Amino acid sequence: EDAEKGGFDHFMLKEISEQPLVVQETIGQRVFFENEFEPYKEELPKDIVRGISRICFVACGTSYHAALIGKFLMEYLADMPCEVDYSSEFRYRNAAVNNSVLTIAISQSGETADTLAAMREAKKRGSYVLAITNRLGSTANREADFSILTRAGLEIGVAATKTFTSQLVTLYILALYMGSCKRSISKKILDETLSYLLEVPKRLEEYFPKFLNDIEKSAKIYSGYKNMIFMGRGINYPVALEGALKLKEISYIHAEGYPAGEMKHGPIALLDPTTPVLAIATRSAVTYEKVLSNIEEAKSRRSRVVALISEGDKDAVNLVNDILYVPDVPEIVSPIYNVVPLQLFAYYAAVWLSRDPDKPRNLAKSVTVE
Ligand code: G6P
Repeated sequence: EDAEKGGFDHFMLKEISEQPLVVQETIGQRVFFENEFEPYKEELPKDIVRGISRICFVACGTSYHAALIGKFLMEYLADMPCEVDYSSEFRYRNAAVNNSVLTIAISQSGETADTLAAMREAKKRGSYVLAITNRLGSTANREADFSILTRAGLEIGVAATKTFTSQLVTLYILALYMGSCKRSISKKILDETLSYLLEVPKRLEEYFPKFLNDIEKSAKIYSGYKNMIFMGRGINYPVALEGALKLKEISYIHAEGYPAGEMKHGPIALLDPTTPVLAIATRSAVTYEKVLSNIEEAKSRRSRVVALISEGDKDAVNLVNDILYVPDVPEIVSPIYNVVPLQLFAYYAAVWLSRDPDKPRNLAKSVTVE
């Protein structure tokens, strides 16, 4: 087992560090094109895309958070109405899906019982089903009408990390493809978004040696608390959910993700010196100023605040107690960068508390029962 860890203390840390490569593999040659941008034309034919008027994502756990980001991407890059549901909820509701709807099931394993049941339910209602999985030949792939494979390689750590980033990259490319098929994306946004994606592997690779120590230091501080609130907005709200999920899964610290604008409708009641806040306050966001005032509200309740802050930022740095720097990137691609320090934060908190991040209690890598 030690040999398989390739010199890392845990699979989780190895898999987190593999993300630049995973992004590279998932992008592959797909983003290069001459006339038309058609990266998934084999997997999902263009005429099917053109006949679809709505998307319904179904997924569980970390894959569900990828789907929430997928909704932003589909709306922004493909102008496609979109909803997202937990597979376990979708399967028992009267979901209004039909043959003008593409149900997209996201599942790294392709074996999650609830997601398979949701796919079957969607099919029964006449919807097309596209499965996005990391496992060739999985049940989801076999049962779906269409399949796209992510290129993360085998993930051993129970908490999903590199499979999440590979799902995200797939969703960017898929949304761009759908926007192109439907002619609802401009050439400018297409080219721009592709160029941002192409930069990711190199910038992530540079990230690790630069910031690992800072993240470890902060994780040690916050591992002393029993509860934590993660807040983010817009496309980074699902990243806050994912950061909180990672922390609770492997360190057993209670953490909740919240859209920062909702804090005043309840969670702000929890804020005091015993409940710190992790804020995603990266500079490119349209809601950047708003998140800064949410941070001020937390500070005035004497909560300790650690924030994800863009390199070069001069405003947010003055408001917070602890800083996790991330590259200053356009908002649309920021989730790929922002999730990495949150994975590492959870990892180091778990290790500091002597919990095994690879095998958290009560959790399974793939949940094949309801
Ligand atoms: C389990 C795992 C999670 C995962 C979820 C969904 O709960 O512990 O890490 O996100 O299942 O798995 P899937 O294979 O469907 O993505």
